[in-house]
Amino acid sequence: MLKGKKAVITGGSRGIGKAIALKFAENGADIAIIATRESEEASETVKELSELGVRAGLYVCNIRDPEQAESTAREILSDFGSADILVNNAGITRDNLLAGLKNEDIDDVIDVNLKGCMFVTRAFIRSFVKQHGGSIINISSVVGLMGNKGQTVYAASKAGIVGFTKSVAKEYGRKNIRCNAIAPGYITTDMTAALSEAQTEEMKKAIPLSRLGSPGDVAGLALFLGSDMSSYITGEVIKVDGGMYV
Ligand code: NAI
Repeated sequence: MLKGKKAVITGGSRGIGKAIALKFAENGADIAIIATRESEEASETVKELSELGVRAGLYVCNIRDPEQAESTAREILSDFGSADILVNNAGITRDNLLAGLKNEDIDDVIDVNLKGCMFVTRAFIRSFVKQHGGSIINISSVVGLMGNKGQTVYAASKAGIVGFTKSVAKEYGRKNIRCNAIAPGYITTDMTAALSEAQTEEMKKAIPLSRLGSPGDVAGLALFLGSDMSSYITGEVIKVDGGMYV
């Protein structure tokens, strides 16, 4: 479905990003992963991708730094020749009630989740314009749509991604560049590993499908949005949440 396509995935070394990278590679895409640092986990992911017979590379970049975002994009475009799909997946949480949030918690979450998404998208947008095509997929969250106690800054960063996604869709649609967002619900990854069994059970009660999601559940939608099957879809925010927020 993605044969001959090249995809860039931020935070692609683990969790949801890794599942998207594997799904894209299984469907024939070459993959550039962006990660904050080299690690065994990241090398293992690149190895798994290469074993699927595609080109795969790891690019170390802290996306909150606009200069690193620009230089990494240049490096990827030079190595791969072009890019067709960008998945802005990297994200962090610093959960606390508003009164307990430190200045640096607020800065960290906005810098990585929202500004990082903008910096990386801006770094690739000229190449998409030049080739008159591209699919940008931003990973938001259902809490960006519904809000959540203890997640004020995280929810704000994810709501910001929704506004950014719709604006990019309007600004670049005539250049055949699509921009959509995925809003996952509770997905089992390192990010949600901190939840207790009791919290997990409580959460399941609020989910019509009665289970937490898997990274693969998100990857399926990413594949659809990255491929030509969704060629007339842009500016959308699609939930993958087992019906949690309907
Ligand atoms: P994770 O913590 O397993 O993975 C996040 C990835 O982002 C890691 O690879 C990390 O190295 C990377 N990253 C963090 N800061 C970075 C930076 N400054 N520069 C470059 N890379 C950086 O988390 P998970 O669960 O896989 O989340 C992926 C995305 O999905 C995040 O944006 C998260 O907010 C979102 N999401 C996750 C949900 C869940 O239930 N797990 C629910 C809704 C949204």
